[in-house]
Amino acid sequence: MSWRIKPLDAIIASAEKKALTRSLGAVQLTLLGVGAIIGTGIFVLTSEAAQKAGPGMMWSFVIAAAVCAVAALCYSEIASMVPVSGSAYTYTYAVMGELLAWVVGWALILEYAVAASAVSVGWSGYFIGLLNSWGIELPLAITAGSYAGGIINLPAALIALLITALLMIGTTESARVNAVLVAIKVTALTVFIVLTLPVIKGANFEPFLPNGWMGNGHGAGLGVVGAAASIFFAYVGFDAVSTAAEETKDPQKNVPIGLIGSLLICTVFYLLVAAGAIGAIGSQPVTGANGEILHAGSAAMAAQCQSLMAAGSEPLVCSKEALAHVLRSVGHERVGDMIGIAAFLALPSVILIMLFGQTRIFFVMARDGLLPEFLAKVHPKWKTPHVVTVITGLAVALFAALLPVGKLADISNSGTLFAFFMVALSVMILRIKQPERHRPFKTPLVWVVAPLAMIGTLGLYLNLPTESKLVLPIWAAFGLVVYFLYGYRKSHVGRGIVDTDH
Ligand code: ALA
Repeated sequence: MSWRIKPLDAIIASAEKKALTRSLGAVQLTLLGVGAIIGTGIFVLTSEAAQKAGPGMMWSFVIAAAVCAVAALCYSEIASMVPVSGSAYTYTYAVMGELLAWVVGWALILEYAVAASAVSVGWSGYFIGLLNSWGIELPLAITAGSYAGGIINLPAALIALLITALLMIGTTESARVNAVLVAIKVTALTVFIVLTLPVIKGANFEPFLPNGWMGNGHGAGLGVVGAAASIFFAYVGFDAVSTAAEETKDPQKNVPIGLIGSLLICTVFYLLVAAGAIGAIGSQPVTGANGEILHAGSAAMAAQCQSLMAAGSEPLVCSKEALAHVLRSVGHERVGDMIGIAAFLALPSVILIMLFGQTRIFFVMARDGLLPEFLAKVHPKWKTPHVVTVITGLAVALFAALLPVGKLADISNSGTLFAFFMVALSVMILRIKQPERHRPFKTPLVWVVAPLAMIGTLGLYLNLPTESKLVLPIWAAFGLVVYFLYGYRKSHVGRGIVDTDH
Protein backbone atom coordinates (compact mmCIF):
# COMPACT_ATOMS: atom_id res chain seq x y z
CA MET A 1 0.00 0.00 0.00
CA SER A 2 1.73 3.08 1.15
CA TRP A 3 5.12 1.55 0.70
CA ARG A 4 4.50 2.35 -2.95
CA ILE A 5 7.79 3.17 -4.49
CA LYS A 6 8.37 5.42 -7.42
CA PRO A 7 11.11 3.61 -9.32
CA LEU A 8 14.35 5.52 -9.68
CA ASP A 9 14.38 4.99 -13.42
CA ALA A 10 10.91 6.48 -13.73
CA ILE A 11 12.03 9.52 -11.75
CA ILE A 12 15.06 10.01 -13.90
CA ALA A 13 13.10 9.44 -17.10
CA SER A 14 10.44 11.99 -16.18
CA ALA A 15 13.12 14.52 -15.40
CA GLU A 16 14.81 13.89 -18.70
CA LYS A 17 11.57 14.36 -20.59
CA LYS A 18 10.96 17.65 -18.91
CA ALA A 19 14.44 18.62 -19.92
CA LEU A 20 15.38 21.76 -18.03
CA THR A 21 18.43 23.37 -19.58
CA ARG A 22 21.62 22.18 -17.97
CA SER A 23 23.52 25.40 -17.65
CA LEU A 24 25.10 25.56 -14.17
CA GLY A 25 28.77 24.71 -13.60
CA ALA A 26 30.80 23.98 -10.46
CA VAL A 27 31.55 27.62 -9.66
CA GLN A 28 27.96 28.76 -10.10
CA LEU A 29 26.72 25.88 -7.98
CA THR A 30 29.17 26.69 -5.21
CA LEU A 31 28.05 30.32 -5.36
CA LEU A 32 24.45 29.18 -5.25
CA GLY A 33 25.27 27.21 -2.12
CA VAL A 34 27.11 30.08 -0.43
CA GLY A 35 24.25 32.41 -1.44
CA ALA A 36 21.73 30.14 0.26
CA ILE A 37 23.86 29.45 3.33
CA ILE A 38 25.14 32.81 4.57
CA GLY A 39 22.22 34.63 6.12
CA THR A 40 20.39 35.11 9.34
CA GLY A 41 22.36 32.32 11.00
CA ILE A 42 25.67 34.11 11.14
CA PHE A 43 24.39 37.70 10.95
CA VAL A 44 21.78 37.37 13.70
CA LEU A 45 21.75 34.03 15.51
CA THR A 46 25.36 34.37 16.60
CA SER A 47 24.01 36.34 19.54
CA GLU A 48 21.48 33.64 20.42
CA ALA A 49 24.17 30.98 20.24
CA ALA A 50 26.25 33.11 22.61
CA GLN A 51 23.34 33.28 25.05
CA LYS A 52 23.16 29.48 25.03
CA ALA A 53 26.85 28.62 25.09
CA GLY A 54 28.97 31.74 25.72
CA PRO A 55 32.39 31.60 24.04
CA GLY A 56 31.90 27.82 23.82
CA MET A 57 29.77 28.54 20.77
CA MET A 58 32.98 28.11 18.81
CA TRP A 59 32.48 24.40 19.44
CA SER A 60 28.82 24.73 18.47
CA PHE A 61 29.84 26.01 15.06
CA VAL A 62 32.26 23.10 14.68
CA ILE A 63 29.73 20.47 15.76
CA ALA A 64 26.99 21.80 13.46
CA ALA A 65 29.47 21.96 10.56
CA ALA A 66 30.58 18.38 11.18
CA VAL A 67 27.01 17.10 11.10
CA CYS A 68 26.37 19.06 7.90
CA ALA A 69 29.58 17.73 6.35
CA VAL A 70 28.63 14.07 6.77
CA ALA A 71 25.09 14.86 5.62
CA ALA A 72 26.47 16.68 2.58
CA LEU A 73 28.51 13.61 1.63
CA CYS A 74 25.32 11.56 1.68
CA TYR A 75 23.43 14.20 -0.30
CA SER A 76 26.23 14.17 -2.85
CA GLU A 77 25.91 10.48 -3.53
CA ILE A 78 22.19 10.50 -3.94
CA ALA A 79 21.89 13.84 -5.71
CA SER A 80 24.45 12.81 -8.30
CA MET A 81 22.59 9.53 -8.87
CA VAL A 82 19.18 11.16 -9.04
CA PRO A 83 19.85 14.63 -10.37
CA VAL A 84 16.24 15.79 -10.32
CA SER A 85 14.34 18.36 -8.33
CA GLY A 86 12.50 17.59 -5.14
CA SER A 87 15.56 16.79 -3.07
CA ALA A 88 15.04 14.58 0.00
CA TYR A 89 11.38 14.10 -0.89
CA THR A 90 12.19 12.55 -4.26
CA TYR A 91 14.98 10.36 -2.89
CA THR A 92 12.77 8.99 -0.15
CA TYR A 93 10.02 8.28 -2.67
CA ALA A 94 12.42 6.13 -4.65
CA VAL A 95 13.90 4.32 -1.70
CA MET A 96 11.40 4.06 1.11
CA GLY A 97 8.12 4.64 -0.62
CA GLU A 98 5.33 7.14 -0.72
CA LEU A 99 4.29 7.31 2.89
CA LEU A 100 7.71 8.26 4.18
CA ALA A 101 8.31 10.48 1.16
CA TRP A 102 5.17 12.35 2.07
CA VAL A 103 6.36 12.78 5.63
CA VAL A 104 9.74 14.04 4.39
CA GLY A 105 8.06 16.44 1.93
CA TRP A 106 5.85 17.61 4.76
CA ALA A 107 8.93 18.14 6.97
CA LEU A 108 10.61 20.07 4.18
CA ILE A 109 7.77 22.59 4.51
CA LEU A 110 9.07 23.24 7.99
CA GLU A 111 12.58 23.53 6.65
CA TYR A 112 11.96 25.93 3.82
CA ALA A 113 8.86 27.94 4.72
CA VAL A 114 9.77 28.42 8.36
CA ALA A 115 13.35 29.22 7.39
CA ALA A 116 11.98 31.93 5.12
CA SER A 117 10.10 33.34 8.12
CA ALA A 118 13.23 33.17 10.27
CA VAL A 119 15.35 35.01 7.72
CA SER A 120 12.61 37.63 7.33
CA VAL A 121 12.74 38.30 11.07
CA GLY A 122 16.54 38.35 10.95
CA TRP A 123 16.39 40.90 8.17
CA SER A 124 13.97 43.07 10.12
CA GLY A 125 16.50 43.30 12.97
CA TYR A 126 19.05 44.83 10.61
CA PHE A 127 16.45 47.02 8.94
CA ILE A 128 15.30 48.43 12.28
CA GLY A 129 18.93 48.89 13.31
CA LEU A 130 19.63 50.84 10.14
CA LEU A 131 16.64 53.08 10.71
CA ASN A 132 17.87 53.69 14.25
CA SER A 133 21.28 54.68 12.99
CA TRP A 134 19.51 57.29 10.85
CA GLY A 135 17.62 58.51 13.90
CA ILE A 136 14.29 56.88 13.04
CA GLU A 137 12.62 54.89 15.85
CA LEU A 138 9.71 52.62 15.04
CA PRO A 139 7.35 51.80 17.94
CA LEU A 140 7.88 48.41 19.60
CA ALA A 141 4.26 47.46 18.81
CA ILE A 142 5.14 47.07 15.13
CA THR A 143 8.70 45.80 15.39
CA ALA A 144 8.28 42.66 17.49
CA GLY A 145 5.68 40.07 18.40
CA SER A 146 4.23 39.60 21.86
CA TYR A 147 7.31 37.57 22.85
CA ALA A 148 9.19 40.85 23.28
CA GLY A 149 6.35 43.08 24.38
CA GLY A 150 5.22 44.15 20.91
CA ILE A 151 2.28 43.12 18.72
CA ILE A 152 3.58 42.25 15.28
CA ASN A 153 6.88 42.41 13.46
CA LEU A 154 5.67 44.45 10.53
CA PRO A 155 8.97 44.83 8.62
CA ALA A 156 9.46 41.04 8.72
CA ALA A 157 5.97 40.39 7.38
CA LEU A 158 6.36 43.05 4.69
CA ILE A 159 9.68 41.73 3.38
CA ALA A 160 8.19 38.22 3.19
CA LEU A 161 5.24 39.56 1.20
CA LEU A 162 7.50 41.59 -1.08
CA ILE A 163 9.61 38.55 -1.91
CA THR A 164 6.43 36.54 -2.49
CA ALA A 165 5.26 39.16 -4.98
CA LEU A 166 8.61 39.04 -6.78
CA LEU A 167 8.43 35.26 -7.00
CA MET A 168 4.92 35.44 -8.33
CA ILE A 169 5.81 37.65 -11.20
CA GLY A 170 8.66 35.31 -12.00
CA THR A 171 11.76 36.70 -10.39
CA THR A 172 14.08 33.85 -9.79
CA GLU A 173 17.40 35.14 -8.82
CA SER A 174 19.69 35.14 -11.80
CA ALA A 175 23.11 33.61 -11.36
CA ARG A 176 24.62 37.06 -11.88
CA VAL A 177 22.56 38.77 -9.20
CA ASN A 178 23.39 35.89 -6.87
CA ALA A 179 27.09 36.32 -7.55
CA VAL A 180 26.88 40.03 -6.66
CA LEU A 181 25.00 39.33 -3.44
CA VAL A 182 27.43 36.58 -2.47
CA ALA A 183 30.25 39.05 -3.05
CA ILE A 184 28.53 41.56 -0.75
CA LYS A 185 28.07 38.98 2.02
CA VAL A 186 31.57 37.58 1.74
CA THR A 187 33.05 41.08 1.71
CA ALA A 188 31.04 42.01 4.79
CA LEU A 189 32.23 38.93 6.67
CA THR A 190 35.82 39.48 5.55
CA VAL A 191 35.79 43.09 6.72
CA PHE A 192 34.34 41.93 10.01
CA ILE A 193 37.10 39.37 10.46
CA VAL A 194 39.86 41.79 9.48
CA LEU A 195 38.64 44.43 11.93
CA THR A 196 37.89 42.17 14.88
CA LEU A 197 40.69 39.60 14.93
CA PRO A 198 43.39 42.18 15.79
CA VAL A 199 41.40 43.42 18.81
CA ILE A 200 40.69 40.00 20.28
CA LYS A 201 41.29 39.76 24.03
CA GLY A 202 41.99 36.42 25.63
CA ALA A 203 40.00 37.45 28.70
CA ASN A 204 36.84 37.61 26.58
CA PHE A 205 37.00 33.84 26.16
CA GLU A 206 36.77 33.30 29.93
CA PRO A 207 34.84 31.46 31.24
CA PHE A 208 34.77 29.44 28.06
CA LEU A 209 31.83 27.17 28.90
CA PRO A 210 29.54 29.20 31.20
CA ASN A 211 26.62 26.86 30.48
CA GLY A 212 28.69 23.71 30.05
CA TRP A 213 28.28 21.28 27.18
CA MET A 214 24.66 20.40 27.84
CA GLY A 215 23.36 23.39 29.82
CA ASN A 216 24.42 22.30 33.31
CA GLY A 217 20.97 20.93 33.99
CA HIS A 218 19.19 24.20 33.19
CA GLY A 219 16.94 22.59 30.58
CA ALA A 220 17.01 21.40 26.99
CA GLY A 221 18.53 23.58 24.33
CA LEU A 222 21.32 25.13 26.41
CA GLY A 223 25.08 24.69 26.50
CA VAL A 224 27.40 24.00 23.58
CA VAL A 225 25.30 21.21 22.11
CA GLY A 226 22.05 23.15 22.47
CA ALA A 227 23.66 26.10 20.70
CA ALA A 228 24.91 23.72 17.99
CA ALA A 229 21.34 22.52 17.40
CA SER A 230 20.28 26.15 16.88
CA ILE A 231 23.29 27.43 14.96
CA PHE A 232 22.85 24.48 12.60
CA PHE A 233 20.48 26.94 10.92
CA ALA A 234 23.47 28.95 9.77
CA TYR A 235 24.58 26.06 7.54
CA VAL A 236 21.20 25.14 6.13
CA GLY A 237 20.88 25.89 2.47
CA PHE A 238 23.72 23.85 1.03
CA ASP A 239 21.09 21.28 0.16
CA ALA A 240 19.63 23.91 -2.19
CA VAL A 241 22.50 22.91 -4.47
CA SER A 242 21.00 19.46 -4.83
CA THR A 243 17.66 20.93 -5.84
CA ALA A 244 19.41 22.54 -8.79
CA ALA A 245 20.86 19.21 -9.93
CA GLU A 246 18.39 19.08 -12.78
CA GLU A 247 19.80 22.30 -14.17
CA THR A 248 23.46 21.38 -13.75
CA LYS A 249 26.06 20.49 -16.35
CA ASP A 250 27.84 17.25 -15.55
CA PRO A 251 25.91 16.96 -12.27
CA GLN A 252 27.79 13.84 -11.24
CA LYS A 253 30.90 15.86 -10.74
CA ASN A 254 29.59 19.34 -10.09
CA VAL A 255 26.89 18.66 -7.50
CA PRO A 256 29.30 17.17 -4.94
CA ILE A 257 31.74 20.01 -5.57
CA GLY A 258 28.97 22.57 -5.06
CA LEU A 259 27.62 20.93 -1.92
CA ILE A 260 30.87 20.32 -0.14
CA GLY A 261 32.68 23.37 -1.47
CA SER A 262 30.01 25.83 -0.31
CA LEU A 263 29.84 24.19 3.10
CA LEU A 264 33.58 24.30 3.53
CA ILE A 265 33.88 27.96 2.57
CA CYS A 266 31.11 28.96 4.97
CA THR A 267 32.54 26.92 7.83
CA VAL A 268 35.88 28.73 7.60
CA PHE A 269 34.16 32.11 7.55
CA TYR A 270 31.85 31.25 10.43
CA LEU A 271 34.63 30.10 12.73
CA LEU A 272 36.63 33.24 12.09
CA VAL A 273 33.59 35.47 12.53
CA ALA A 274 32.63 33.73 15.77
CA ALA A 275 36.16 34.08 17.12
CA GLY A 276 36.18 37.76 16.14
CA ALA A 277 32.82 38.49 17.75
CA ILE A 278 33.65 36.71 21.01
CA GLY A 279 37.18 38.01 21.23
CA ALA A 280 36.32 41.64 20.44
CA ILE A 281 33.50 42.28 22.88
CA GLY A 282 32.89 39.08 24.85
CA SER A 283 29.87 36.83 24.65
CA GLN A 284 28.79 35.84 28.13
CA PRO A 285 25.11 34.94 28.57
CA VAL A 286 22.88 37.30 30.55
CA THR A 287 21.19 35.81 33.57
CA GLY A 288 18.05 36.61 35.50
CA ALA A 289 17.76 38.04 39.01
CA ASN A 290 18.48 34.65 40.58
CA GLY A 291 21.36 33.80 38.32
CA GLU A 292 19.23 31.58 36.08
CA ILE A 293 20.07 31.37 32.39
CA LEU A 294 17.50 33.30 30.38
CA HIS A 295 16.14 31.81 27.20
CA ALA A 296 16.92 33.71 24.02
CA GLY A 297 13.74 35.16 22.55
CA SER A 298 11.81 35.03 25.85
CA ALA A 299 10.02 37.97 27.42
CA ALA A 300 12.26 37.74 30.48
CA MET A 301 15.33 37.99 28.27
CA ALA A 302 13.89 40.96 26.39
CA ALA A 303 13.16 42.72 29.68
CA GLN A 304 16.62 42.02 31.07
CA CYS A 305 18.23 43.31 27.87
CA GLN A 306 16.14 46.46 28.02
CA SER A 307 17.23 47.22 31.54
CA LEU A 308 20.87 46.54 30.65
CA MET A 309 20.59 48.87 27.67
CA ALA A 310 18.95 51.54 29.80
CA ALA A 311 22.01 51.27 32.04
CA GLY A 312 24.19 51.90 29.03
CA SER A 313 25.56 48.47 28.17
CA GLU A 314 24.42 46.25 25.34
CA PRO A 315 25.98 42.80 25.47
CA LEU A 316 26.35 40.77 22.28
CA VAL A 317 23.60 38.37 23.36
CA CYS A 318 21.04 41.19 23.38
CA SER A 319 21.75 42.47 19.90
CA LYS A 320 19.45 41.78 16.99
CA GLU A 321 22.15 42.79 14.55
CA ALA A 322 25.03 40.94 16.09
CA LEU A 323 27.81 41.64 13.61
CA ALA A 324 27.02 45.32 13.11
CA HIS A 325 26.79 45.69 16.87
CA VAL A 326 30.25 44.18 17.46
CA LEU A 327 31.88 46.58 15.01
CA ARG A 328 30.08 49.59 16.43
CA SER A 329 31.17 48.54 19.91
CA VAL A 330 34.84 48.48 18.97
CA GLY A 331 34.72 51.96 17.48
CA HIS A 332 33.90 51.21 13.84
CA GLU A 333 30.52 52.94 13.78
CA ARG A 334 30.52 53.54 10.05
CA VAL A 335 31.69 50.09 9.09
CA GLY A 336 29.11 48.65 11.47
CA ASP A 337 26.43 50.57 9.59
CA MET A 338 27.83 49.25 6.32
CA ILE A 339 27.64 45.65 7.57
CA GLY A 340 24.04 46.48 8.41
CA ILE A 341 23.48 47.64 4.84
CA ALA A 342 25.12 44.48 3.48
CA ALA A 343 22.74 42.32 5.53
CA PHE A 344 19.83 44.54 4.52
CA LEU A 345 20.69 44.00 0.85
CA ALA A 346 21.71 40.36 0.88
CA LEU A 347 19.39 38.61 3.35
CA PRO A 348 16.31 38.99 1.11
CA SER A 349 17.99 36.71 -1.41
CA VAL A 350 18.10 33.95 1.22
CA ILE A 351 14.36 34.47 1.78
CA LEU A 352 13.89 34.19 -1.96
CA ILE A 353 15.86 30.96 -2.21
CA MET A 354 13.96 29.39 0.70
CA LEU A 355 10.56 30.45 -0.62
CA PHE A 356 11.49 29.31 -4.08
CA GLY A 357 12.64 25.93 -2.73
CA GLN A 358 9.34 25.61 -0.91
CA THR A 359 7.25 26.27 -4.00
CA ARG A 360 9.35 23.73 -5.94
CA ILE A 361 8.76 21.05 -3.32
CA PHE A 362 5.02 21.72 -3.31
CA PHE A 363 5.10 21.71 -7.07
CA VAL A 364 6.75 18.28 -7.26
CA MET A 365 4.38 16.88 -4.64
CA ALA A 366 1.38 18.17 -6.57
CA ARG A 367 2.89 16.79 -9.79
CA ASP A 368 2.96 13.39 -8.10
CA GLY A 369 -0.71 13.77 -7.20
CA LEU A 370 -0.10 13.98 -3.45
CA LEU A 371 -1.36 17.55 -3.26
CA PRO A 372 -4.26 19.03 -5.24
CA GLU A 373 -3.21 19.84 -8.77
CA PHE A 374 -4.62 23.36 -8.65
CA LEU A 375 -1.70 24.16 -6.36
CA ALA A 376 0.69 23.45 -9.20
CA LYS A 377 -1.29 25.67 -11.59
CA VAL A 378 1.02 27.85 -13.61
CA HIS A 379 0.03 31.47 -14.25
CA PRO A 380 -0.60 32.04 -17.96
CA LYS A 381 1.39 35.26 -18.15
CA TRP A 382 3.96 35.02 -15.36
CA LYS A 383 4.61 31.30 -15.89
CA THR A 384 4.97 30.73 -12.16
CA PRO A 385 3.07 28.45 -9.77
CA HIS A 386 1.30 31.53 -8.41
CA VAL A 387 -1.32 29.77 -6.28
CA VAL A 388 1.14 27.85 -4.19
CA THR A 389 3.41 30.88 -4.01
CA VAL A 390 0.69 33.12 -2.56
CA ILE A 391 -0.42 30.55 -0.01
CA THR A 392 3.15 29.91 1.09
CA GLY A 393 3.99 33.61 1.21
CA LEU A 394 1.00 34.47 3.40
CA ALA A 395 1.89 31.73 5.88
CA VAL A 396 5.53 32.77 5.92
CA ALA A 397 4.57 36.41 6.55
CA LEU A 398 2.21 35.45 9.37
CA PHE A 399 4.83 33.42 11.21
CA ALA A 400 7.43 36.11 10.66
CA ALA A 401 5.04 38.67 12.13
CA LEU A 402 4.42 36.75 15.31
CA LEU A 403 7.39 34.61 16.32
CA PRO A 404 10.98 35.36 17.39
CA VAL A 405 13.82 34.54 15.05
CA GLY A 406 15.46 31.89 17.24
CA LYS A 407 12.27 29.92 17.71
CA LEU A 408 11.59 29.98 13.97
CA ALA A 409 15.13 28.82 13.24
CA ASP A 410 14.79 25.98 15.75
CA ILE A 411 11.50 24.83 14.24
CA SER A 412 13.03 24.96 10.77
CA ASN A 413 15.99 22.94 12.05
CA SER A 414 13.73 20.18 13.32
CA GLY A 415 12.37 19.64 9.80
CA THR A 416 15.77 19.91 8.18
CA LEU A 417 17.42 17.48 10.59
CA PHE A 418 14.71 14.96 9.86
CA ALA A 419 15.20 15.35 6.10
CA PHE A 420 18.98 14.92 6.45
CA PHE A 421 18.44 11.84 8.58
CA MET A 422 16.22 10.28 5.92
CA VAL A 423 18.71 11.08 3.16
CA ALA A 424 21.49 9.31 5.06
CA LEU A 425 19.20 6.32 5.61
CA SER A 426 18.21 6.29 1.93
CA VAL A 427 21.83 6.19 0.85
CA MET A 428 22.47 3.10 2.95
CA ILE A 429 19.30 1.32 1.86
CA LEU A 430 20.11 1.99 -1.79
CA ARG A 431 23.61 0.59 -1.34
CA ILE A 432 22.06 -2.67 -0.16
CA LYS A 433 19.10 -2.82 -2.50
CA GLN A 434 20.72 -1.63 -5.69
CA PRO A 435 24.44 -2.20 -5.27
CA GLU A 436 25.00 -2.42 -9.02
CA ARG A 437 23.49 0.98 -9.86
CA HIS A 438 25.98 3.47 -11.24
CA ARG A 439 27.13 5.90 -8.55
CA PRO A 440 28.97 8.84 -10.07
CA PHE A 441 29.88 10.03 -6.57
CA LYS A 442 30.31 7.51 -3.83
CA THR A 443 30.18 8.65 -0.22
CA PRO A 444 33.58 7.67 1.16
CA LEU A 445 33.39 5.20 4.06
CA VAL A 446 29.64 5.15 3.69
CA TRP A 447 29.09 2.71 6.54
CA VAL A 448 30.77 5.16 8.87
CA VAL A 449 29.70 8.45 7.32
CA ALA A 450 25.98 7.73 6.85
CA PRO A 451 25.46 6.34 10.39
CA LEU A 452 27.39 9.35 11.72
CA ALA A 453 25.04 11.64 9.79
CA MET A 454 22.08 9.85 11.33
CA ILE A 455 23.49 9.98 14.85
CA GLY A 456 24.52 13.62 14.40
CA THR A 457 21.14 14.80 13.11
CA LEU A 458 19.30 12.83 15.78
CA GLY A 459 21.62 14.18 18.47
CA LEU A 460 21.08 17.79 17.40
CA TYR A 461 17.34 17.26 17.15
CA LEU A 462 17.24 15.93 20.71
CA ASN A 463 19.09 19.02 21.89
CA LEU A 464 16.62 21.49 20.44
CA PRO A 465 14.44 23.30 22.96
CA THR A 466 11.46 21.14 23.95
CA GLU A 467 8.82 23.23 22.17
CA SER A 468 10.64 23.15 18.86
CA LYS A 469 11.26 19.45 19.24
CA LEU A 470 7.55 18.85 19.68
CA VAL A 471 6.63 20.71 16.52
CA LEU A 472 7.99 18.00 14.22
CA PRO A 473 5.92 15.02 15.47
CA ILE A 474 2.79 17.16 15.74
CA TRP A 475 3.31 18.51 12.24
CA ALA A 476 4.02 15.01 10.92
CA ALA A 477 0.86 13.62 12.53
CA PHE A 478 -1.15 16.41 10.93
CA GLY A 479 0.56 15.59 7.64
CA LEU A 480 -0.41 11.93 7.90
CA VAL A 481 -4.06 12.89 8.34
CA VAL A 482 -3.83 14.99 5.19
CA TYR A 483 -2.14 12.10 3.39
CA PHE A 484 -4.77 9.53 4.24
CA LEU A 485 -7.58 11.95 3.46
CA TYR A 486 -6.12 13.03 0.16
CA GLY A 487 -2.79 11.87 -1.22
CA TYR A 488 -3.29 8.20 -0.53
CA ARG A 489 -6.21 8.06 -2.96
CA LYS A 490 -4.98 10.58 -5.48
CA SER A 491 -1.34 9.56 -5.78
CA HIS A 492 -0.26 9.04 -9.36
CA VAL A 493 1.94 6.13 -8.37
CA GLY A 494 -0.99 4.61 -6.47
CA ARG A 495 -3.20 5.01 -9.53
CA GLY A 496 -0.62 3.39 -11.74
CA ILE A 497 0.56 6.56 -13.45
CA VAL A 498 4.23 5.93 -12.82
CA ASP A 499 5.66 7.00 -16.06
CA THR A 500 6.45 10.32 -17.51
CA ASP A 501 3.17 11.98 -18.37
CA HIS A 502 3.54 15.01 -16.13
N1 ALA B 1 21.62 29.36 6.41
C1 ALA B 1 20.63 30.32 6.12
C2 ALA B 1 20.70 31.46 7.05
O1 ALA B 1 21.46 31.44 7.96
C3 ALA B 1 19.28 29.71 6.10
O2 ALA B 1 19.98 32.41 6.87
